[in-house]
This record gives sequence, structure tokens and C-alpha cells, in this order.
Amino acid sequence: MNKNRDDNIPHLRKKGTATQLIVDGEPFVMLGGELHNSSSSSLTYMEPIWSRLVSLGLNMVLAPVSWELVEPEEEKFDFTIVDGLIKKARRHKLKLVFLWFGTWKNTSSSYAPTWVKTDLKRFPRAQLPQGRNTDAVSCFSKAACLADARAFSALMKHIREVDDQEHTVIMMQVENEVGILRTPRDRCQMAEERFAQQAPKELMKNLQAHADCLIPYLQHVWEAAGSKTAGTWKEIFGSGADEVFMAWYIAKYVNAVTRAGKAEYPIPMYANAWLGPQHEGQQPGDYPSGGPIARMMDVWRAAAPNIDFLAPDIYLEDFRGVCCEYTQSGNPLMIPEARGDEQAAANVFYAVAMHDALCFSPFAVDSIVEPHPLTASYMLLSEMMPVIAEHHGMGRMIGFADDSSYGPRYNVFTGGMTRGFDCELGSYWLRVRFNRPLETGKVPAAGLIIASEDDEYIVAGAGFTLSFAKPGEEVNVEILTLDEGRFEKGRWIPSRRLNGDESQGGKLVYMGDELCVRKAKIYSYSLTQ
Ligand code: DGJ
Repeated sequence: MNKNRDDNIPHLRKKGTATQLIVDGEPFVMLGGELHNSSSSSLTYMEPIWSRLVSLGLNMVLAPVSWELVEPEEEKFDFTIVDGLIKKARRHKLKLVFLWFGTWKNTSSSYAPTWVKTDLKRFPRAQLPQGRNTDAVSCFSKAACLADARAFSALMKHIREVDDQEHTVIMMQVENEVGILRTPRDRCQMAEERFAQQAPKELMKNLQAHADCLIPYLQHVWEAAGSKTAGTWKEIFGSGADEVFMAWYIAKYVNAVTRAGKAEYPIPMYANAWLGPQHEGQQPGDYPSGGPIARMMDVWRAAAPNIDFLAPDIYLEDFRGVCCEYTQSGNPLMIPEARGDEQAAANVFYAVAMHDALCFSPFAVDSIVEPHPLTASYMLLSEMMPVIAEHHGMGRMIGFADDSSYGPRYNVFTGGMTRGFDCELGSYWLRVRFNRPLETGKVPAAGLIIASEDDEYIVAGAGFTLSFAKPGEEVNVEILTLDEGRFEKGRWIPSRRLNGDESQGGKLVYMGDELCVRKAKIYSYSLTQ
């Protein structure tokens, strides 16, 4: 393997608290969209879709590649569709993240090739109690794991052969929304035997090494069962045993597939999650037990060192909460699936600026009807991206998207209460107030603010006002200069100087109905001298 070529392939790099995806030497933030499950199985079907994806403003497409089409007969590989997708993506200047629909897609094995699906002897199924087979191959099937790993490694070898110069494929998702449903744990004989055994030393050593910083749920179930460092799964993890057990073995399986792929072409790879519990009382098995949900992060990390990070598919209202859960323990935020409604046009600001997200990508992007407000958000963010990337991981950038969780705050300009929030950034206290009601079918107020200097702010977005303060200090805080403008490939192009009515005489940055960008210089002076 040529070393120089390896250095150049897409990879992750730390910058302060952030993790950046580096493509051809530059940080690349994916403003993407995921295709419907079946779209990329036909190049002809995809033909009219590519240009729509471009006009929507995407720079990346998440496209499924399935085991059933790549290896229709055992050890006979067919990469026609993979090659076609890469070629078309290049022609449209789009990057690709491939989703490997291998052993599991949404917990079931519907995308395994027919020679896997029909041979239950060789590829046994996960079972419910009383030996009832499920629609999923068991994660305890060594034969299935080896076969999947062999197919995935052939795929990665092929991608390297056709793409290690152009870097059109920049990341891989390994499997899709894994876990087991309808039972908290697999009850096949192999699983039952393992469950009765001692929990692996490898896991226990890892948990002990991180005992002070485990995700609270795991810490809780471990402590509640007596903080044992050896014993059976049940003895150590008590009420959490089934889920921890499944997480360990599923993550081991997905890791083996990932490792085999990375041995051929080590671009970043992740596992995505069907979230759970989604409401009080939901139990493992009601949602996929053992999947890479936030509270299993430590188990996944211990079992799957080749997986770079875990990624949430966010369909829940609580977008902010999920983003926070998935940035625990330094996990970079990648959102491979999200709702593609108007809220998406706002949420992308929050994800990209608040959490230095690697990717935002609504699902079913090929059926988004244009015009869609996501386009304006993507266009603005992509022109700003060099500036955003420069401020990754430094604590100098915030992002927000209004949702029903923001409460009313005092508004010094109206004397009334307006929903919004306050926070400290740079040398000042910022008061953000939303001036647009939350309405179904409308894009909520959203934006980002960068403290480019201690007293200089770049503000982008729509539907809010921003003012500055220094609470507790005997000073007046005012805008020294305010410019409207835009970014072009990261370069600031100013237009009007805003003053008078447009800034309430230097008191307020007003962000109206349309997305816009402002640059404000702030100063303060003593009230008394
Ligand atoms: C989540 C899955 O990961 C996707 O592949 C797709 O099936 C969507 N659900 C459907 O809403």
C-alpha cells in the first residue's frame, strides 16, 4: 500500500473540541440528503434525480448499496451500480456516502442475498423465546459475519481501485439501524449459551478504565447490580443485562465487518441508530435492543474500536436533545437521517454551528419537492463553510433553531416577553429573541453567530433579533458598526452599512424574513465617565 496515497484519503482530524472530516486536505461539512431505500438500486431510476439533488443545494448524497446486489451469487461480485453511482456523482460534483445494507437494515436481514436468506442452517436466525425464528440473521452466526465482512471488504477494495484519486466516496455507513426487535435479547441457542457465561474481560476492563465518565444509564445499571467487575451478564448489569449483552455482540459483529472494509480502504465509517427509548416505559425490544443508542455508547466503543462514531437518525421532535446525547464523550455529530420538512431548514443551523456537525442529511431527499427552504439554508451555509470550519471546536460559535422548548424572555425593545435565549459569546452577553411565531409549514427562526473577534460577530439566519450586553457592568453596550453582506466561498463581501432605523441607532441586529448575513462590531463605554 502506498503511504502517500493513504495520507490523502478522506479522514477525520481533531480541531479543538471538534472532529472534522478532511477531504483533499480541506474540512468538508456534508450538507446532504439520504435517498429512499430503493432509489440507488437502479441507475436508470436515478437518472433524473441527480440534477434535482444539485439544485436542492446538496454537496453529498447518502446512497444505499446492498449486499443482495453486490454479491447476488456467493463470491461473484457485481459493482456495476457502485461504479455508475460514483460516475454520476462525479459528473454532478457531489460526494457520496455509501450505506452498506448488509446483514441488517432496520434490524431485519431483508437486504442479505438470497443465498444467505434461504440457508437458515448456515446462517441461523435470531430467535424469540420458544425457538421462534425472526426475520433477522443472528449476530451469533460466525458464518454470516464472515460472509458479510468478505463482501464489504470486496466493496471497499473496489472503491479504492476506482476512487482513491478522486475521493468521491468520503465515508461509509456500515449496516443500518441494527438491534433486535420484539425481544430484549436473541434467544437462539448460541445466544443463550453466551448469556449464561461470564461477561467478557475485554468489556469489563474497558468499562473499569472509564468508570468515572461512563454514560449515566450504564453507570446506574452497573452500580445498582453492585459494581461487580466479574460475573455473568445478569450479575453485572442486572436490569440492563439484555441490552448490554446485545449491544456487545452486535457491535462486535459490525466491527468485524468494518475492520475488514477498513483493511482495504480506511475511510471513516460509522454505525447509525434507530433511537430509543423514545418515551417513558419503552423497553429494549420495543426499539432495537443492542443498537448504537446513546446509552449504549460505552459498550459500542469498547466492542467496536474500528467504528469511528455513532450517528442518530433523528425523527423525534427533540432534535436538540438528541444532538446533545450524541455528542457525549467526544462522539462527533453525524445526522444521516432526519425529517425533511421545513424544520430541517432550521435544524441544520443548530447542528452545524452548535455541534460542529460532520453532516446533516434529511431522509428521502429524492422526493423533496422544490422549491424547498432547505436549499436557501444549504446555499448560505456552504458559502460560509470555510469560516464555519475555521471556528470549529473553539467555543466561539453557536447555532440555534426555534422549537417549542424555548421559553419567553424579557425583550428590552418591546418591554414585553419574546421567546428566545441568552448566552455568553466573545466578550459580550447575547440576547437572541425570535420574531417569528412557530407555525406548521413555516421555517422556524434559526441562525448562527460566530465571535470572529472578541468584539466582532458574524450573524447569519432569519427570524430573530440580536442585542448585546455586559450584565453587572456600569457600561452602555452598542453596535460600533454593522454591515450587511454575504460570503462567497468564505470571503466576506459587504454591501450596505446598516444604521439608523436599520439598527435602532446601533442597538439591535435585526434578522428579517429572508436568510441574511451581518457583521457587527460592538463596543462599550462607561456610564459615568
Ligand atoms: C429509517 C431507516 O433507517 C430508513 O432506511 C428508512 O427505512 C426510514 N426509516 C423510513 O422512514
